[in-house]
Amino acid sequence: MAVQRTFSIIKPDATNRNLTGAINAIFEKNGLRIVAQKRIEMTQKQAETFYAVHSERPFFGELVEFMTSAPVVVQVLEGENAVLKHREVMGATNPAEAAEGTVRKEFALSIGENSVHGSDSEENAAIEIAQFFSGNEIVG
Ligand code: PPS
Repeated sequence: MAVQRTFSIIKPDATNRNLTGAINAIFEKNGLRIVAQKRIEMTQKQAETFYAVHSERPFFGELVEFMTSAPVVVQVLEGENAVLKHREVMGATNPAEAAEGTVRKEFALSIGENSVHGSDSEENAAIEIAQFFSGNEIVG
């Protein structure tokens, strides 16, 4: 499998609890290299655009409110099979269903406040990366 890039967000519940380094350590231990990273306050517009695919779902307003409630850390991660690897390391969306040793099992509070986001395909990773990073901010 070729080297891939994926897009990752460390969410407000995790930045509020000062868990950025602990989560990054898990990513790095699992072969994911942080090739771009910045801490930002996501705007309402950025959050609505980013989660547009969920705009008809009942939790959309709550999701946007949460993602704009405190700083997030947006990241580009690189590695062999990075999209799938990152999703495995994050664990299931609902922490009650997440496997032992995953980020969400260890840190997530609920299905909404679930500490991390990761792209679900290489195609979406490219789209999501472009929403937050310009090419020269990514240093592989
Ligand atoms: S997925 O990725 O489509 O399989 O997962 P899904 O369960 O559809 O969730 C998509 C994102 O919405 C968030 N979510 C919620 N936020 C607030 N409240 C509720 N009830 C809720 N349910 C799901 C979930 O954390 C997913 O966020 P991301 O950032 O995509 O992981």
